[in-house]
Amino acid sequence: MIVGPDAVAAVAVGGLPRRPGVLVVTARAPDATVWQSGVEAGAEAVLELPVGGSQITERLADSLDDRGRTGVTVAVVGGCGGAGASTLVAGLGVAASRAGVEALVVDGDPLGGGLDLALGSESVGGDRWPALVGISGRVSAQSLRMALPMVSPSSRMAALSLLSWDRGDPQAVPPDAIREVVAAGERGHDLVIVDLPRWVDPAGEQVLIKADVTLLVVPAEVRAVAAAGRVAARVRAMAAALEVVVRGPGPAGLTGAHVAEALQLPLAVEMRSDRRVASALDLGYGPWRLRRGPLAQACDVVLARQGLVREEVA
Ligand SMILES: Nc1ncnc2c1ncn2[C@@H]1O[C@H](COP(=O)(O)OP(=O)(O)OP(=O)(O)O)[C@@H](O)[C@H]1O
Ligand SMILES: [Mg+2]
Repeated sequence: MIVGPDAVAAVAVGGLPRRPGVLVVTARAPDATVWQSGVEAGAEAVLELPVGGSQITERLADSLDDRGRTGVTVAVVGGCGGAGASTLVAGLGVAASRAGVEALVVDGDPLGGGLDLALGSESVGGDRWPALVGISGRVSAQSLRMALPMVSPSSRMAALSLLSWDRGDPQAVPPDAIREVVAAGERGHDLVIVDLPRWVDPAGEQVLIKADVTLLVVPAEVRAVAAAGRVAARVRAMAAALEVVVRGPGPAGLTGAHVAEALQLPLAVEMRSDRRVASALDLGYGPWRLRRGPLAQACDVVLARQGLVREEVA
C-alpha cells in the first residue's frame, strides 16, 4: 500500500490491521508528524520523491512478481564432451512442461549448439542472450517472462520459457546478467534449469552458487568418469549439492552405482541412452515426442527428487 503524507495519519488512527508493504511517499522532506504517523501505521519506509523513486519501482515490481513461492534452480554440467548435458536440460524442460511445472531453461554455454535447436524452437520469436547481456540491476520476473520465447507446443502444457543463444557471434555471459536472470526466473517460475559449460566460467560460478542442485552428466565409460572427476573437482566447492546422472549402458558393464562410487557423489538417476534422441534433435523436434522413453523417465525422477512432481509420476 502506498500512502501520501495527507492520508498516513488516517491510516494510523483508522485502526486498520497491520500489514506488510506499507510505504509513505512524500514530495518534500517528511516532517516529524509524517514520521510519527508512518511508525504508527507500521510503514516499512518513508520515501521522498524523486530520490525514493527507484525504491518504489522496485517494491512495485516485487509485488507484481510475488507468486507466493520461489522456484528451484537446477544446474547441469557435462562430465565430458558430448555427455548429454544439453539434451538432459532440454528433456527436463519438456518433462516440467508436461507435468504442469512452469520452467525457464537458460543456455549458459556460449559455445554450445544452442538450446533453441535442442528444443526444436529456433523459429519461436522472443529475446535471445544478446538482448540481455547488458543487464546489471534487478530484472522483473514479469518482464523476463514477457520478453523470452515461450516454447511449449500446446496450451495444455505448462509454459516453458527459454533463454538461448542466436546464431550470431559467441560472447561471454556477464556474471551479473545471469545472476539477475536466474533470480528473476526463480521469482517467476517453479523451476529454472541452466545448461553450463564444462569449463565453468564466471557466469557459471554464479549459477553454481545459487543452484539448489547441480547435475553432472556422465556416460558409463572409464574415460568419461576420469574426465568427470576433473570437472567435479572444479565445481564441487561452488555447488551446494552435486549429484551424478549416469548415461548407460556402459560398453564394459559399468553401472550408475560404479560411476557414483568412483566419483564419490550421490547418484541422482541412471538412464539408458535413447536411440531416438539423436534423430529427434537433428530433425528439429526436440524431446517433445519422446514420451515415456528413458530420457523422459530420468527427467521425471529428477523433478520428483526436487519435489516438483509426485513420486508416482516419476
Ligand atoms: N539421453 C541420450 N540418449 C541417447 N543419445 C544422447 C542422449 N543425450 C545425448 N545424446 C547424444 O549425444 C549427443 C551430444 O549430446 P549433448 O549435446 O546433449 O551433450 P553435451 O554434454 O551437452 O555436449 P557438449 O560437450 O557439446 O556441451 C547428442 O547429439 C545425441 O546424439
Ligand atoms: Mg552441451
